[in-house]
Amino acid sequence: MDKQNIIDDGEKYLMYNYKRLPMVFEKGEGCKLIDSEGKVYTDFLAGIAVDSLGHSPKVVVDAIIEQAQKLTHVSNYFWIDSQVKLAKILVENSFADKAFFCNSGTEAIEAAIKLARKYASKNYGPEKNEIVAMSGSFHGRTFGALSITDSEKYRAGIGPMPGGFKFAKFNDIEALKAAVTDKTCAVILEPIQGEGGVTAAEEAFLKAAKEICTEKGALLIVDEIQCGIARSGKLFAYEYSGIEPDIMTLAKAIANGLPLGAVLATAKVASAWQPGDHGSTFGGNPVACAAGVATMETIVNGKMWETAADTGAYFAQKLQELVDAYPFAVKVKGKGLLIGLELAFEGAETVSKALEEGFIINCTSGKVLRFVPPLIIEKSDIDALVAVLDKIFAGYAKA
Ligand SMILES: Cc1ncc(COP(=O)(O)O)c(C=O)c1O
Repeated sequence: MDKQNIIDDGEKYLMYNYKRLPMVFEKGEGCKLIDSEGKVYTDFLAGIAVDSLGHSPKVVVDAIIEQAQKLTHVSNYFWIDSQVKLAKILVENSFADKAFFCNSGTEAIEAAIKLARKYASKNYGPEKNEIVAMSGSFHGRTFGALSITDSEKYRAGIGPMPGGFKFAKFNDIEALKAAVTDKTCAVILEPIQGEGGVTAAEEAFLKAAKEICTEKGALLIVDEIQCGIARSGKLFAYEYSGIEPDIMTLAKAIANGLPLGAVLATAKVASAWQPGDHGSTFGGNPVACAAGVATMETIVNGKMWETAADTGAYFAQKLQELVDAYPFAVKVKGKGLLIGLELAFEGAETVSKALEEGFIINCTSGKVLRFVPPLIIEKSDIDALVAVLDKIFAGYAKA
């Protein structure tokens, strides 16, 4: 089908819940995407922090094909080889002892909420059920995840929301202390808020969050769905602070594009679940997990967090030069290859202009240009993007 037919049929047959650009990509290779008209783009979005090894990397494609030829699905009534292998990699490379697999980020959050409440209920009683989330947070679109997402916009018109959730100001230790009570079963935070404007948790805040949780018998849940899996410059972003969480949620980059989410937990916390307490027909599917094993082995064996830290530092320095040159370029944010450039105005126009020049970038929180490229992005690609941003900004400066 040609591009216009796809768009026409899409408008006719798909629900209108995404504002899509009139573009259809036909092929991806490394950090490049090629659209239906043959135009080549350099991808600084990577499916929103998903395609960390680039588009269709051979190692992942081969793993998918090999697994799909043997077995595409089997119920979790049985043991699944690739699921067990992936759990082992995640456990051996994190604080955790146990893993649970689902199909997306928001599902991982739902599972984490259920696990935290079950743990608290079993150990302290059902009254201890409150979850404290952060201002600026984003955790997903299902009801539990939306209840801890700090955006009225996403909740409008779909109430009533489930109860037992409240917010504290991100990076404000005193506010967190005041919010956490004996009723709190968990505190959930993103070590680097992605959708909330690429804002990193201060190390002192993460340390204090752990202390406050320990004091009140609450669990610390870190949502590393966006910032985890090497993107931040560490395998997991919580490592920057030296603390260990009780529960961690993962998704996005875990299988380089196949739908997969995970919840990791300590053995003590995980023991709150018994058979039947949670589950998912597709969760931990053999093909998704085979892609996950190939992705995680590549990332761990290649110590790709070091690449993210090195390339990210170069990128941040190049963006800082724009901040130094243009008064409306406010500041560089984030860590590793989860980088933001805050502008003094809305960023949507800059995103469109960059797209015209063949660069896919994105804007979050209105004014923050967000860059989450594949971790294999070259410094020459960064130079090319920054030159385009420089040209766009020079146009603004003249106007
Ligand atoms: C930190 C964080 N948590 C949760 C989610 C939800 O993930 P998903 O879109 O896979 O449901 C996202 C998605 O952007 C995210 O960035």
